[in-house]
Amino acid sequence: MPKQDRLIIFDTTLRDGEQSPGCSMNLQEKLRIARALADLGVDVIEAGFPAASPGDFEAVSEVARQIKGPIICGLARCNAGDIDAVWKALEPAERKRIHVFVATSAIHMQYKLQMAKEEILKTAVEGVRRARSYCDDVEFSAEDAARTEWEFLKEIVSAVIAAGATTVNIPDTVGYTVPGEFAALIEYLRAEVPGIENIVLSVHCHDDLGMAVANSLAAVKAGARQIECTINGIGERAGNCSLEEVVMAAHTRSAFFELETGINTTRLFPTCRLVSSITGMPIPRNKAIVGGNAFAHEAGIHQHGVLQHAATYEIMRPEDVGVSENSLVLGKHSGRHAFRDRLNTLGFVLEEAELDNAFRKFKRLADQKKEIFDADLEAIVLQLDTAMAGPWVLRDMQIVTRFGGSASAELWLQNDQEDLVSEKAEGDGPIDAAFKAILAATGVEATLKDFEVRSLTVGQDAQGEVAVLLKTSGRDCRGTGVSTDIIEAGARALVDAVNRIVRTRDADFVEHSRAAASV
Ligand code: KIV
Ligand code: ZN
Repeated sequence: MPKQDRLIIFDTTLRDGEQSPGCSMNLQEKLRIARALADLGVDVIEAGFPAASPGDFEAVSEVARQIKGPIICGLARCNAGDIDAVWKALEPAERKRIHVFVATSAIHMQYKLQMAKEEILKTAVEGVRRARSYCDDVEFSAEDAARTEWEFLKEIVSAVIAAGATTVNIPDTVGYTVPGEFAALIEYLRAEVPGIENIVLSVHCHDDLGMAVANSLAAVKAGARQIECTINGIGERAGNCSLEEVVMAAHTRSAFFELETGINTTRLFPTCRLVSSITGMPIPRNKAIVGGNAFAHEAGIHQHGVLQHAATYEIMRPEDVGVSENSLVLGKHSGRHAFRDRLNTLGFVLEEAELDNAFRKFKRLADQKKEIFDADLEAIVLQLDTAMAGPWVLRDMQIVTRFGGSASAELWLQNDQEDLVSEKAEGDGPIDAAFKAILAATGVEATLKDFEVRSLTVGQDAQGEVAVLLKTSGRDCRGTGVSTDIIEAGARALVDAVNRIVRTRDADFVEHSRAAASV
């Protein structure tokens, strides 16, 4: 059992975070994030919901096989099929946790589950018992706990502890609570539930009213010792509690919280950048801790103060969270060793074949632009994952555009069957034309909802990163692309998003066929 002065950081970027609209990730991307989370020092990685789809099962199982250090956790409803699937997926893990949940609020019980209190109680206890028959580390979550009748919550928490739960999680599933009320709920449970001192009390807050971090910290002050959170606060709707914010609050105000975490805070910024690039969700400039403006002082009076003494206006130093000056790191004469070392410093551990591929791309880029920055290196590695995932790869393109007339695009795309397809299209500008050609070549139907360009580093020859959002059959899909040519970056981002649509469609098809076969 962990020490009570330790605040356990439970990361659910790969499970709840992935439920963020348009944020689905492929296996390589999930593994890349899981490695970064282990390196960051999180205590628990919730790797997915194995019963949700074969893709989720495979992701949990691969994370369990490859990631050493943190506890690897899988989510299950309180039924035998889900719990057995988690246990099977966790099989290769060194340290495992089964996380079971059932909703406990009146509104969820009546409308979502159509179950009475007694049935919910029985389901929860049976779920915990089954999970405990496999594993010593079992977490129970009372979904929508913050809107649950306190008396009933006390009853269910008491029952699951008696059944063997070792962590009990109190989620604010819809982001409804406020700090004082949530702290009072935690105090009430700690005072009223027998045996609560023997388990870890956890919280899981959503950000619908912008209070996920404040609510989590209020709960910690009231005695909770595990926070469930995600990198960049990604997650359902407005998202989850942001890991980097709660961790830096606990560190910066350690005299107030009197708790320690296992987080290496200097890995926060690289991890947030990684998740942002993989999900295509840019970090807002004014985002606390890791936003571009988090350490920028604009007003003269502030600049003057900071120059005299940094602590006048800075409560944290950029280097505490791993923000470094965007320094020149490598050039075209740098060798493979220097390249590998720098990638390791950035948190990337590559296999030999991946490293060869990345090094070739680095050399090509170093011919195009003389200064190579950390962000360029990150982009090289992340684009490897994108290209590997397929099925479509952009082989070539030719674009003609002129003032006052339409643009034309011709693109050559190759799929995983090695078919080379070329399509031409006209459009209102080069991106519109390229998008039409990509849709025609791949047979995908989608509309472009958002298109954002940003410069990855500084200088005229900097690479541009494009993030796009496509909508198809009521679903959002993101994609990113990077190049020194922003039209090419745009086309690559569109191909990435189209690939994600194709992969999700194929996974849905497998899932439906499996469901149909089992009826
Ligand atoms: O928000 C929620 O209630 C959840 C639970 C499954 C923990 O994500
Ligand atoms: Zn949640």
